[in-house]
Amino acid sequence: MKVMVIGSGGREHAICWGISKSSKVDKIYCAPGNAGISEIAENIDIKADDLNQLLSFALEEKIDFTIVGPEQPLSLGVVDLFQENNLLIFGPTQFASQLESSKEFSKLFMERNSIPTASFNSFTSYDEAESYVKKSELPIVIKADGLASGKGVRVCFERIEAIDFLKDIMLDKVFSSSGEKVVIESFLEGEEASFFIFSDGKNIQMLDSSQDHKRLLDKDEGPNTGGMGAYSPAPIIDMETRTNIVEMVVKPVFEGFKKEALIYTGILYIGLMIKDKKPSVVEFNCRFGDPETQPLLFRIDSDIFDLFYLTALGELDSYKLKWKNKTSVSVVLASKGYPMKPETGICIKNLDKVNLNDDQYIFHAGTSIKDNEVIINGGRVLNITASGDNLKEAINSAYKIIDMVDSSNLQYRKDIGAKGLLKNS
Ligand code: AMP
Ligand code: GLY
Repeated sequence: MKVMVIGSGGREHAICWGISKSSKVDKIYCAPGNAGISEIAENIDIKADDLNQLLSFALEEKIDFTIVGPEQPLSLGVVDLFQENNLLIFGPTQFASQLESSKEFSKLFMERNSIPTASFNSFTSYDEAESYVKKSELPIVIKADGLASGKGVRVCFERIEAIDFLKDIMLDKVFSSSGEKVVIESFLEGEEASFFIFSDGKNIQMLDSSQDHKRLLDKDEGPNTGGMGAYSPAPIIDMETRTNIVEMVVKPVFEGFKKEALIYTGILYIGLMIKDKKPSVVEFNCRFGDPETQPLLFRIDSDIFDLFYLTALGELDSYKLKWKNKTSVSVVLASKGYPMKPETGICIKNLDKVNLNDDQYIFHAGTSIKDNEVIINGGRVLNITASGDNLKEAINSAYKIIDMVDSSNLQYRKDIGAKGLLKNS
């Protein structure tokens, strides 16, 4: 089968790596891909949001199945477009992907279906938003309604910070039309974890837990990023917490879809805040998380291609998901200056000389090839991934790989997974 993967991050490298192991997959194309992906797939020079080019390529090359990695093409309607052209594609429709592309859409859905989440108000008028912030309790969370590459949310501990961010969004339009509306939420305390659920429109398959590390620096300090590392499973999700998540969130979400005739196919990413074993929803995303995908797919023992393919065919009930009895960790090596101003164009020397065993892998993100060397080409650059019989082993193994990599022009957290070790002890 000929498969196309859309995207260019660590998530897409992990998807290409996972599906490449299947005997059903003969050839993988990735649009646009990265340096690491080019070792297992043919990169095509088409941007992930160039829907017409993607469609022309898929029709010309007779692509049997397309998997969408990032949110932008989903929110632009790539699934609708491919389906109109009788092409099989994995992901939710443009309508369903509003669960990610409009914060207000997702909050209203949660409100209608009694799903626990922070209380909220939405505004299209700056003056009304400002006077609301002036009388609200702190901290307060300000969110641009639309997609903003992970930069559209600010947790504000000072009123002046909240007002400045409101001005950035609504008056200076730093997120252009994504900031025409803002959602202002109350602050949720607790610890974050995420759940990924495959849904074929009728059946669901919940993956194991994982936990991202959103802040740039150790001890969860510094600015928010796309994610600096992740591990799976997450010890914070014990049996009781998992049961609460299923009963309080997962069941009402999918019952809500049924009630509202919203057909959801693809992956639903549920971002949660957990306090006293009780979950509240922070956000929904309509795609796999990055970097959570890397440790999650690294632990799957059954055919990863089938998981995507059977979901798109509406036959997820026939899939038998099998996990390796391992813990996996992925540590992100980011460029200097990330997330504000990533320094790119610099070479990472001798990456191909790093010796890895079967429980270790380097998933690429912002990389390209120049003169046979790997070049830094984005904010998050490499995802150093390792499995072990327990979390400690996985962490040690991942950091041993980093010792072998030329990380002189990269930054990374030294404490990925450390929170999980505390929970285990
Ligand atoms: P979002 O894009 O909505 O997930 O927000 C990005 C990040 O902001 C989340 O991962 C949280 O760390 C933080 N955040 C968002 N909403 C809240 C909230 N209501 N309370 C506390 N933190 C939040
Ligand atoms: N790791 C967070 C995200 O993918 O949105």
